[in-house]
Amino acid sequence: MSKYISGFSKLSKSDKINWVIDTYLPKNENAKSIITQYWNTDEKLQNLHDEFIENTITNYYLPLGVAPNFLINGRHYTIPMAIEESSVVAAASKAAKFWLDRGGFKTEVVSTTKIGQVHFMYHGDFKHLKAYFEFIKPQLLTDTKPITKNMERRGGGISDIELVNKTNSLENYYQLHASFETQDAMGANFINSCLEQFAKTFKEHADDFEGLQSDNLEIIMSILSNYVPNCLVRAEVSCKVTDLTEDESISPDEFASKFLTAIKIAEIEPYRAVTHNKGIMNGIDAVILATGNDFRAVEAGVHAYASRHGSYGSLTHATVVDGMFKFWMEIPLAIGTVGGLTNLHPLVKLSLELLGKPSSKELMQIVAVAGLAQNFAALRSLTTTGIQQGHMKMHLMNILNQFEANREEKRFLINHFKTNTVTHSSVVEAIQKLRA
Ligand code: MEV
Repeated sequence: MSKYISGFSKLSKSDKINWVIDTYLPKNENAKSIITQYWNTDEKLQNLHDEFIENTITNYYLPLGVAPNFLINGRHYTIPMAIEESSVVAAASKAAKFWLDRGGFKTEVVSTTKIGQVHFMYHGDFKHLKAYFEFIKPQLLTDTKPITKNMERRGGGISDIELVNKTNSLENYYQLHASFETQDAMGANFINSCLEQFAKTFKEHADDFEGLQSDNLEIIMSILSNYVPNCLVRAEVSCKVTDLTEDESISPDEFASKFLTAIKIAEIEPYRAVTHNKGIMNGIDAVILATGNDFRAVEAGVHAYASRHGSYGSLTHATVVDGMFKFWMEIPLAIGTVGGLTNLHPLVKLSLELLGKPSSKELMQIVAVAGLAQNFAALRSLTTTGIQQGHMKMHLMNILNQFEANREEKRFLINHFKTNTVTHSSVVEAIQKLRA
């Protein structure tokens, strides 16, 4: 049987499923029921989800949890988190509670500029190109008016367009490098539409300008950048070193010292920095997903920012000065609270409502806090008990579910592992013993 098909997208949903099963899963008797059991019985809701993407065959569930007790700039929040990894929500909640008693999180949006570029090749004298750019710049802005009108009404728009000469890095390569303010929208469609219009106008008028020929000018592509080092948010916590730990196994001074050293290691050692930052992204991505934002864009931008000095390093930093412990992070976040999924997905709408319908600036601050809290919790465990103790306790439920433990078995085994070390094999052994 051929494993190729043309016109797949035109098939009905059920024909798509039949083709996938017949072609790739013929031995799986349960395939159809696994796929269909995740369909929503509310047809309207299911259609909504079907239409988010193409070739939808079913829904892929992620748990949506909440982490309560966050105090941010004096305001209380319960933060929604969509994530599959156990321990993350528990860690966030624990860190939130810890800082709740120590003044909470302080945050500020440093800047909100987003970037887009028209990449083009030009074969000719730069002097002429520069003169043409100065000539055409007002027209670039005029021709995008129909796109920018609404955004300008909301206080956003195009802030600037620059001509950038990149011929030192790639022969004949130039850019129109544009800055945008997109208010509460992430703004991807807005930015890309403006850029495509810039490209059209730029090429179209080239022949009208002396010294330039449109044949010498080749538009390669027009696209926003997910690197947004000037769309930056800062989150911080601080307290007296003496208030830093409730853990009797380690003194506050020793804890502060180990914590700072752990950060220093992540600042200079990329192998550690990647894991350190991955832990931060546990918190960030979970809120980004729950609020219907693009986690791939955020991930790409944040990791690029972590490499901005030439080598990959920690996103968080800490100091102890005059007995005060300070722990902070600055990250780029181009996110929105209007447009995209935010008005469509019922759980996204609910998550935003739970956060008090934040502006995009407020959401930037909440997301940054979730990342900082996650890193605090991870470093606290890593530098004291190690993470496996807490992690395996949380993971216990996954293992029990894997073995389809019933309610009675779960109750017994959770109790058993309150005083015994959880490892995969110890849980399997305990289940087998119980069942024998
Ligand atoms: C696990 O998902 C995240 C951690 O590895 C982060 C870290 O090591 O800092 C615990």
